[in-house]
Amino acid sequence: MIIQDSIPAEITHLAPGYRRLPAGKLANAVTWMEARAPKPGLARPLLMTRITNPDCASYRAIFFEIGAPWLWDSVSEMSDADISEHFADPRVHLYYGHDESGAHLGMVEFFVADNNDIEITYFGLLPALTGRGFGKRLMAGALDLAWRLDPIRVWLHTSSFDHHSVIGFYAACGFVPFATGFEIIDDPRLKGTLPRTVAPQIPLIETEWSGINAASNLTQPRTLAQRRRLRGDR
Ligand SMILES: CC(C)(COP(=O)(O)OP(=O)(O)OC[C@H]1O[C@@H](n2cnc3c(N)ncnc32)[C@H](O)[C@@H]1OP(=O)(O)O)[C@@H](O)C(=O)NCCC(=O)NCCS
Repeated sequence: MIIQDSIPAEITHLAPGYRRLPAGKLANAVTWMEARAPKPGLARPLLMTRITNPDCASYRAIFFEIGAPWLWDSVSEMSDADISEHFADPRVHLYYGHDESGAHLGMVEFFVADNNDIEITYFGLLPALTGRGFGKRLMAGALDLAWRLDPIRVWLHTSSFDHHSVIGFYAACGFVPFATGFEIIDDPRLKGTLPRTVAPQIPLIETEWSGINAASNLTQPRTLAQRRRLRGDR
């Protein structure tokens, strides 16, 4: 999950069709989801430890380990002073989830807004532990803590850069999608906030494509629907 801005109030109207972005920019399909009530019997919660003033190096390390495969880079843009200031805000809650042996399995960060609406801003397991059911246990631990604060709702957003099963996973945890959109970002691997080698499943394109006749080749209609659209048929 990449948090940069909250959900925009305005809707962007775009005609259907492909859009090309400049090299170095990435488009990310975003889904906003919310839960209005606890889901009974979700899973046996992990043990959760609240970290109020994380050691910056350890926080960076865990954030990088969980998030770099999905292009999370916000912490790379924060100085140690920024991290300290961020966690000095009592509305910011950071928890590390542990199993019964004390092993560290993942992290959750949420923000309790002044209207008591809770946004889960970061949520993830260590990469070696995904696909084994620990996600539900981490979420059960997080939601136990969140619902205890009596929020109106708990919400989050997820992106197409995140794990492919994540919308189904959040739905299984009681979240319902309420809006979709997209986010354009500068590729962190080119910006220098993440190593070039992370997230190989997301294309890294740094040189503008300008093949000979590229534009005319791309615009030639290939399907009946495209030909009709070009002719202006309904
Ligand atoms: C996303 C993440 C938390 C999911 O946790 P996980 O333990 O790997 O999830 P699992 O694949 O074991 O699935 C957990 C549950 O969700 C359900 N689920 C997963 N994908 C699903 C889908 N597409 N449809 C329906 N249910 C689904 C599984 O069936 C399972 O439920 P069950 O235990 O009752 O069978 C974890 O993969 C992760 O941390 N990924 C990396 C970071 C990330 O993407 N974070 C999310 C940012 S928004």
